[in-house]
Amino acid sequence: MRTLIRNGQLVLENEIFHGDLLIEDDHIKSISEKIIEPAEKVIDADNCFVFPGFIDTHTHFDLDLATTSTADTFYTGTKAALVGGTTTVLDFATQDRGMTMMDAYNKWHQKAKGSSCNYGFHMAVSEWNDDRIAEIDKMIELGITSFKMYMVYDNMKVNDGEIYAAVKRLKEKDCIIGVHCENDDIIKMRVSELKSEGKTDPIYHAKSRPNLVEADGVSRLMDICGLAEAPAWVVHLSTAEGLREAEKARDRGQEVYLESCPQYIALEEKNYLEKDGAKYVMSPPLRSVKDQESLLNAMKEHKIDWIGTDHCSFTMEQKAVGKNDFSKIPNGGAGVQNRAEIIYERAVRGGYINMLEMGKLLSENAAKLFGMFPKKGVLREGSDADIVIFDPDCAHTISAKTNLHNCDNSPYEGFSVSGQTRDVFISGIHAVKNGELIQEGLGKYVKRNPCGRYRK
Ligand code: URP
Ligand code: ZN
Repeated sequence: MRTLIRNGQLVLENEIFHGDLLIEDDHIKSISEKIIEPAEKVIDADNCFVFPGFIDTHTHFDLDLATTSTADTFYTGTKAALVGGTTTVLDFATQDRGMTMMDAYNKWHQKAKGSSCNYGFHMAVSEWNDDRIAEIDKMIELGITSFKMYMVYDNMKVNDGEIYAAVKRLKEKDCIIGVHCENDDIIKMRVSELKSEGKTDPIYHAKSRPNLVEADGVSRLMDICGLAEAPAWVVHLSTAEGLREAEKARDRGQEVYLESCPQYIALEEKNYLEKDGAKYVMSPPLRSVKDQESLLNAMKEHKIDWIGTDHCSFTMEQKAVGKNDFSKIPNGGAGVQNRAEIIYERAVRGGYINMLEMGKLLSENAAKLFGMFPKKGVLREGSDADIVIFDPDCAHTISAKTNLHNCDNSPYEGFSVSGQTRDVFISGIHAVKNGELIQEGLGKYVKRNPCGRYRK
């Protein structure tokens, strides 16, 4: 089966090229100014940008917390992802204490069956010991070459020694660990201080985790990775101060990868004061306009590597558990469908980056680091035909009512954006047409190679 995408602004690795792209079966057959080969299907991409399928490096679908589970499963979450142009998600398979990584891998495969976009797994580990070390080679063989550790959350938190041992061991295999960087001791003390003063509203979630809480975590991670001579990956960077700590490490010659999220450039702390402020409770919390600008400037200066959503959705009923105590509100927000349109609005139309850079932040850099390049992350002959046609002139307003998320709230409710994903091809199959999902369940497991450490 051949599909010809005609007359698009093709976002290639180093240029925007005006021309045609021919898909044959599940891969890209050719790219040229004018393709005359016959095709069963012809799609006009006039006035649109054609990107390699977007990759969301950070989702939590079907995640069980102690008291509740996320509103989105893989079934609902990957439909929303695909409509938003994300053709691959990297979700966090989670090795709870008492479980092996193999258990977590099998469990996540079960959860991910029937997904509508492709999926790979990072392995979030809750401990680092000989048993986990013994499983590394098996994980790599199964296509898991990235891991995650938390400095917070009692059920997942590891200590600095464990992070040191893990980054040191994994760098030998060209694997990487993303770290959730916050100072847990300070957070706990501030939470109890605030509650003892009767401060229980959602805004105090942000007050309990000021910028320096993240900066301390990032600084510690930089020192740990510096000592271990290992690459560092900071997940969901949200502050100017955290960025400064990472930049200091880069100046010392360290290899540092930074992920940020749309919410940290589009939303701000004062959102917590809204009537439904609980929906913005996530960690790290929303910050200031000054932080937004630092992150946007960092994107412009290529200091941020990629954008993940940290999609971790809960309904307002679930959020209401913490109506008298912000520390009981389940942490996380819905956003997997809206990543490209928010980045386009705030970063491209805001004048910080161009479309080529948007392609790198949403797809290419993640494909490289997470061992998927050049099958994914690039429009190249022979690459997978995971393709997004993005219409920059399709103004609309984001709403939970029209999102495909299985969630009755959106942190971006009422947000006006100028562009939208129009069509999506996954493995060469037309799955989203004019913004509507027309084929579901096409997602495949992505078995990844060792990390392509492009900042080495
Ligand atoms: O609030 C958030 N981000 N919840 C998901 C887990 C995490 O911290 O990444
Ligand atoms: Zn997360």
